[in-house]
Amino acid sequence: MSEVLKRVVVLVSGGGTNLQSLIDKVHKNSCEIVAVFSDNPKAYGLERAKNAGIYSEAISYRSFEDEKDFFAELYSKLDGLDPDLIVLAGFLKILTPEFYSRFENKIMNIHPSLIPSFCGKGFYGIRVHQAVLEYGAKISGVTVHFADDGADTGPIILQRSVIVEDSDTPESLQAKILVHEHEILPQAVELFCKDKLYMEGRRVKIRQ
Ligand code: GRF
Repeated sequence: MSEVLKRVVVLVSGGGTNLQSLIDKVHKNSCEIVAVFSDNPKAYGLERAKNAGIYSEAISYRSFEDEKDFFAELYSKLDGLDPDLIVLAGFLKILTPEFYSRFENKIMNIHPSLIPSFCGKGFYGIRVHQAVLEYGAKISGVTVHFADDGADTGPIILQRSVIVEDSDTPESLQAKILVHEHEILPQAVELFCKDKLYMEGRRVKIRQ
């Protein structure tokens, strides 16, 4: 009997290189990406989904007068798909606390620093790497974590570190870290989909 693949929905706001890593490494293999949504109709991630034959839809944040209506629309789409896992792969909107608690430990986020450093409100995109360099940190990296109602505060699943070189610019650091993002996000999704992750308090442990 063939195994039923876990249903994954991915939310993106931009280029979607992390989405691409999921399409290339885990889609139809350890999971099924059933849909990709974006708050930004111009997000290239939507094209990437289309090219892979995955349902994609823009729910344009700007077309709603009230933020509540945007979230109501997004949540009704998500509920309709009955996902096992929701991946925030460069999704810039912060979901509402009720939604996080409804999908507790079923929403994954990727952040391009070693949480709990250089994360939280205002730390996104190139700003993260600028802050690392300004501070003079010698190590940075990437974190995949379960999202909760705080900003980048949920339980950590996987992390990878990279050395910050004296010659690094925000752009070079971003590029170095992105290579690792594309490895650990698919890894974390695969571990989740194979039921290898379990919680002990707020520690995420991996079943061997
Ligand atoms: C990545 O750096 C990710 O860590 C952060 O947003 C960026 C998204 O990049 N959350 P992409 O759209 O996947 O290329």
